[in-house]
This record gives sequence, structure tokens and C-alpha cells, in this order.
Amino acid sequence: MKKNKICLVGGGSTFTPGIVKSIVERSEDLNLEEVVLYDIDEERQKKVSVIVEWILRKQLKSNVTLTVTTDAEQAFTGAKFIFAQMRVGGYKMREQDEKIPLSFGCVGQETCGAGGLAYGLRTIGPMIELIDQVEKYALADHWILNYSNPAAIVSEACRKIRPKARIINVCDMPIAIIDMIAGSLNITDTSEIKYDYFGLNHFGWFTSITYRDRDLLEEIKNYVNEHKILLPPQYIERLKENRATGDRHAVSSWIHVWESVYTMLQAFPDYLPNTYLTYYLLQKETVEHQNPDLTRANEVMNTREKALFEGVDKYLSTGEVDESSFHAGSHGDWISDLAVALLNDTKTRFLVITENKGAIPNMPYDAMVEVPAYVGKNGPEVIAQEPVPLFYQGLMMQQLNSEKLIVEAYIENSYEKALQSFSLNKTIPSINVARLVLEALIKENESYWPDLN
Ligand code: G6P
Ligand code: MN
Repeated sequence: MKKNKICLVGGGSTFTPGIVKSIVERSEDLNLEEVVLYDIDEERQKKVSVIVEWILRKQLKSNVTLTVTTDAEQAFTGAKFIFAQMRVGGYKMREQDEKIPLSFGCVGQETCGAGGLAYGLRTIGPMIELIDQVEKYALADHWILNYSNPAAIVSEACRKIRPKARIINVCDMPIAIIDMIAGSLNITDTSEIKYDYFGLNHFGWFTSITYRDRDLLEEIKNYVNEHKILLPPQYIERLKENRATGDRHAVSSWIHVWESVYTMLQAFPDYLPNTYLTYYLLQKETVEHQNPDLTRANEVMNTREKALFEGVDKYLSTGEVDESSFHAGSHGDWISDLAVALLNDTKTRFLVITENKGAIPNMPYDAMVEVPAYVGKNGPEVIAQEPVPLFYQGLMMQQLNSEKLIVEAYIENSYEKALQSFSLNKTIPSINVARLVLEALIKENESYWPDLN
């Protein structure tokens, strides 16, 4: 059997070392021959590749070929899987996505609210270009596994503009939440945790979580009630002592969302909300809590990004690698497991972002929803769900239409649709504020956005 080539788009990402590690650990299941790093930022990718090379040769003792390129033809020719994790505009633009809405008193977040809409308008074009290049060069039965954010908007744009693309949009947040639950309830074998979920990307709820015969949804609700936060005990202890938890989702700006789970559950205890719902249901409190001068983008640049590049420099000058300088774990494992399921037709259950097609009966047929599916060689087979209760369905419809409108604004170069999208978003309190935030974002995104007339 011919061996496989996997290409990582966004090779210069701080997540690249961890994702490559997960891929190469599954070399046998993936019948892997070559990993390609592809990025438009040659210098950044070159630095990251130093650590990747070390992981491959020294840590995993693998002889998988590593290719590092900025040439699309070389990157995609013959590729079976394309893992996409592009960040259009880099962390510098993420900083703007967070700070500009905040300066108008609105939630500042990379994928939610105005910031997410702005990031969406930057990312649609490059994603479509990527799909076209992959279509041209990769194997006919390739799969693009897309992590690129904002996944809700990106996936809707792909559905509308390139409906035949062989792309599966995914997000690791639900699995990160499951990891926190496992840590809180002392479960080490997360592979045996089963769950049901419905929603949109970064906008959904767990309706059941079980481990063997234990009802973890009930257990975690009790845990959160007691601790007023959804974080494992050792993290809570370390936070009290003001020490780093060691988890990227449990550092300062993320802590607020784990606390918010408590508040959201107090109000609506039926389902466990995705932490991202904080930005829509506790928008006022989030703004009060956010620091307009130091947002998550700053934090990431000062920690994860800095650690990685310092790690590279240290390795180049001393030959020693500090493994804490790069991030590895369930983020990379999850997407790699998805590739294994597609390749080996395992019909394993995953959450995917996919066209509804009736899976949630009271959501539109063409909505891009996040639901469980069995994944085999033909892609995801979605599992049908019960109708969603009105409160949740109403929230989802509002968010869905806001996201659909920003995609239509992109396609039609429509200022009015962009303004409607902003006005409909639950993080924005009035049409006047919507206009001000939109205008400021237009200015900042001049070289990225289409013209809006
Ligand atoms: C989660 C989400 C991703 C998001 C990331 C941001 O993993 O699922 O969509 O990009 O968090 O994490 P960061 O550490 O960069 O704030
Ligand atoms: Mn995500």
C-alpha cells in the first residue's frame, strides 16, 4: 500500500510541534511516510521546524521524512491529509480583534463576538484559496481537517463557496472540557468517557457525559457547585498560591470562563455549557473582567510563543531541548485520531462541525452545527438528535444568522450585511455600537478584508 503524506498548513504555529508529535506517534495507523510543514512565513516556520526535527529524530526516533516549504505545489502534491491551522494576520491581528471591541465596551475575543466576525472576514479568502490549491495538487481522495478559526464562520463559508470541498471542520474545545472534567473527577482513562453534545462551534452544550456506569454530567455539576469553578483540585490549589497550573487553558484569562461555568449552571442546570458561552451569556461581566491593555493575545505572545522561540534559540546554542517550551497533548491527539478514523474506516465517534441536514430537527437544514458523528472513510455520518429546547434554539439561531450574515457580507461585499451581522450578535448592545466597532475594524483590517460597500 502506498504510504501517506500529511501536510500541516500553518507550519509556523506554536501548536505545530505538538500536532506533529501526535501525528508521528500514530505513524503505523496513518501508514505515514512524510510530514510537510507549509507556511507563508518562512522565517517563523523555519524556527518551529528546528523543534519538530528534534521531536522526530531525538524524541520519537522516527525516520518519517520532514519537508519544510513555502511552496504550495510542493506542499500538497500527493498529500492524503491536510491539517489546516492558519491564523490570518497572526497574533498581532488577534490582539486587534480582542482590543478594538473592548475599547467600545464589547467582549474582546478571538472567535466570539465582533472579534470573531473580524477574524472571519480575514480568513474566508485564504481558506478558499487553500481549498483550491489542495484540490489541484493533493490526492483525489484527500481530506482537509480544519482547525483554522473562527471555525463556525470558516465552515459556513466553505459550505457556501466550495460545497464539494473534502473538508471536515473541527474544534478541540469540547475535548479540552472533557479533560478538565476527567481531571476534576479523578478519571485517567478519558478514552472511555462518552458524551452527547449539540450546538454551533464555540456555542454548544453537553447533554450527557458518562464513564462506564457513572453519570459524569451529574457528578461534574455537583463538583462545580461545590468548587464554584470547573477546574481540577490541584489547579485550584495552584491558583490560590498564584502558581501557574501548567495547562494553557488554565491561565489567567481562561480562568474566568471556567468560573463562569458555575454561574451558567446555576441559572440553567440542564446541560453543561461550553466555556465559550461565557462571552454570550455573561457578556457584561466578561467586559468588566477583561483588561483592555492586556488581552489573551498578549498573554499568548508573552508565554506560549515566547517559550517556543526561546526554546529554539536555546537548542541551537546549547543542543539541549526544554520539553516545556512546546505544547503537546489532546489538541494534537484529537485531530490525529480523526485522520486515523478516516483512513482506517473505524466509524469512531467524534464531534464535528457539519451541515445539519436534519440532525437537529428544529435548526435549519443548511446550518453548520457541531454534533457527534461516526467517522469512517467517507467522512462523518451524523447522529440524529432530539429537538433543542426553545431557549437554546433561540440562542443558536441568533448566533447562526449573525455568522451567516458575515459570510454573505464577504460574498456580496455588503456593508449592510456586515452591520446586520454585528447588530445581531449577542455581544453587541446596539446598532450604534455595532457601527462604531465595525468602522474601527474596517480600518484595522484594510489589507485583509474585502471592500464593503
Ligand atoms: C481552544 C479552542 C480553539 C482556540 C484556542 C485558543 O483550543 O478550541 O479554537 O483557538 O482554544 O487558545 P489560546 O491558548 O490561544 O487562547
Ligand atoms: Mn475551537
